[in-house]
Amino acid sequence: MPSVPTTSIDLTSADVVADPYPHFAEERDRHEVAWHEASGMYLAFSHAAVSAVQRDRRLGRLWKDKEPLSYLEPFNLLHRNQMMENEPPEHTRLRRPVARVFARGHIERLRPRVRELARDLLSEVDRAGFDIIEHYAEPLPVLVIAELLGVPSSHAADLRDWSQAIVKMYEPAPTSERVDAAVKASIEFAGLVREIADERRRTPAEDLITDLVGTELSEDEVVAAAVLLLNAGHEASVNVFGNGLVAMLERDITPADDVALTVEEMLRFDSALQLFERTATEPVEVGGVTVEEGQKIAVLLGSANRDPAVFDAPDTFRNDRDPNPHVAFGVGVHFCLGAPLARMELFESVTELFAQMPELRLTGEPDSRGTFVLRGRSHVPVGSGA
Ligand code: HEM
Repeated sequence: MPSVPTTSIDLTSADVVADPYPHFAEERDRHEVAWHEASGMYLAFSHAAVSAVQRDRRLGRLWKDKEPLSYLEPFNLLHRNQMMENEPPEHTRLRRPVARVFARGHIERLRPRVRELARDLLSEVDRAGFDIIEHYAEPLPVLVIAELLGVPSSHAADLRDWSQAIVKMYEPAPTSERVDAAVKASIEFAGLVREIADERRRTPAEDLITDLVGTELSEDEVVAAAVLLLNAGHEASVNVFGNGLVAMLERDITPADDVALTVEEMLRFDSALQLFERTATEPVEVGGVTVEEGQKIAVLLGSANRDPAVFDAPDTFRNDRDPNPHVAFGVGVHFCLGAPLARMELFESVTELFAQMPELRLTGEPDSRGTFVLRGRSHVPVGSGA
């Protein structure tokens, strides 16, 4: 095998989890793509290589059921049957009906409701001091996506817990406790969605689960699609808001007049989703290496989003950066289906927050979730006024 650049970056070390960006900068200076023995795959660091990997149809998301098969079936079922873990033509078959019903919801029509929810949540906080993750960043997208799908808001806390248990499986080397929790969450989550889907088949309602049961998707595919939307529909949004807000408050930055530009910079500056894997279906040259058939390559979105070849002063948070060609929503066929909803929610929640609390400040040290792939804050203490 010809020699290839290698990297020994430890994606699970406390140092890298706390602040991966100086480590990414060092790696990017040395190579666009490098072999990472610890995970047995290539890592792509530069914006060009990350974009090329995501655009290349020979580098796919190829789902492999996790083992032991019978124990992990509840988890596998939710992944095997959804768009994000499949490639065309299967991906197209699974994405098209969901995209159709999702578009039918007309994201813009939800805007007043999102603003109202933001106001309701802010009206209940103690402005002198509150955890903005628990009381604002988290409940807002959970309530919006639950309402959209037609899941009663009484299940909001369950949705959050199930989602958290499932996404912990995406981190390197999950412990057996995490595997058990993910299996349990998958069973309970699918159970609730199946129950609601059965009800909607009998008595249709004005919601997305009703729309989904009316598509050509099978019953398992409807369940997997609904769980995907419910999870993806809030998980990253919470962390983009938390990461972006902390970056701003730490630097005394408030949103620009054009809040949409600030939202894009929140998405770029401290990526909520750091790593996605692809597998080569034939040899592919990218960033100076050849990924052989069957080998894996992971894109590091946070590294691409700080690449000085694309972004002027990449480590500076500019609330009006324009243009801002970040890859926080991915690139290519898997481009985030929920990007318009996520952008609208972030716009409304940031606008409402700073309109009501222009003096918002950190009142303590924010806590980190402590995970690499899903990068976020668990608690962010803030306050406003004297
Ligand atoms: C700011 C928040 C969000 C971020 C940063 C984000 C990011 C991403 C990224 C990077 C991907 C591509 C994964 C890959 O290439 O392998 C993706 C896919 C996806 N996202 Fe999002 N997302 C966000 C919010 C949402 C919301 C609100 C929804 C839905 C309600 C959603 C639904 C999806 C779906 C269904 C896919 C799979 C698309 C496919 O495979 O074709 N996301 N998202």
